[in-house]
Amino acid sequence: MAKKNIKDTAYTNLLMLADLGIPEAVRFRDALGLEGNPMQSLARVPFASKIPLCISTISEILYQRTNDLIDQERNPTILDLACGYSPRVLVMAPRGYTYIGADLPVVAEELIAKRSQLIPGSPNLFAGYRCVDVADEEQMQRVLAGLRERITIVTQGLLTYLTIEQKLELMQGIRSLLERDGGCWIIPDACPDRMLPATFDAIMGRVGSSMVQGIYKIVDKQVGRSREENGWQSIDEMTDALEGFGFSVKRVPLYRRELPLWCLDRLDPKAEDRLIVAWQSMSSLVVTLSE
Ligand SMILES: C[S@@+](CC[C@H](N)C(=O)[O-])C[C@H]1O[C@@H](n2cnc3c(N)ncnc32)[C@H](O)[C@@H]1O
Repeated sequence: MAKKNIKDTAYTNLLMLADLGIPEAVRFRDALGLEGNPMQSLARVPFASKIPLCISTISEILYQRTNDLIDQERNPTILDLACGYSPRVLVMAPRGYTYIGADLPVVAEELIAKRSQLIPGSPNLFAGYRCVDVADEEQMQRVLAGLRERITIVTQGLLTYLTIEQKLELMQGIRSLLERDGGCWIIPDACPDRMLPATFDAIMGRVGSSMVQGIYKIVDKQVGRSREENGWQSIDEMTDALEGFGFSVKRVPLYRRELPLWCLDRLDPKAEDRLIVAWQSMSSLVVTLSE
């Protein structure tokens, strides 16, 4: 990915969560000195005005369900790989977790420089950010240096950007980390082929789902990605690759009624029902080492 565009995708996720009013996202955005909604201009185009809501809805379900799964697993350390500007630390640190976010230097250096504003008053010296290329096993080995606890590894919004070779390196790195002290790997976005079309269809109707191919084209070009070559588009393809590598894969529902979803307040009741039905047919993955 081009460096500037890497940063932009990560900023967009945070700004869309903040735009929904999610308190920790608003605090994180302000601490980073950011403002605005990168998709605001679309909101004024009649046929495209609901695209920003579709995107924030996707960002939020993945973010909230990941937090929920982390709480279900209850491992003391969270390693958020390709963390971007996720505000996850602000909800997880007060619950007693050691939160470590890792990303490429172009993102992580900014987070490291602003750590004291982003994680105010944290007495936990391990908590914070690291510069790591997740496709470099040696760097992955060093990411938890000095820390010996069960971990929950998270990859949210990462896998479709990596080539197949990078995903093999990532799996190798994650396997080594899980072999040390145990734990699991959470992949909330396990249905990339269905998430955008189903969400756009639920919120915008047919006109929405017909726009999805165009949106893929714009994003793929921006970040220099070939989704076909990168693979792992469907949950079956993902599961086969993970099991073939020796992982054990558990499918869990993407949606739970108990999730605190701010985006639902922005939808009319019919769109909300359609969206929940669509989400109920999708899964996330909890991955562990095979026995
Ligand atoms: C779409 S953003 C998602 C950020 C965050 N996980 C979230 O959900 O808000 C993708 C992130 O992947 C990071 N990334 C891409 N390739 C990476 C690599 N090889 N190693 C580490 N991070 C990477 C980018 O820098 C960016 O922050």
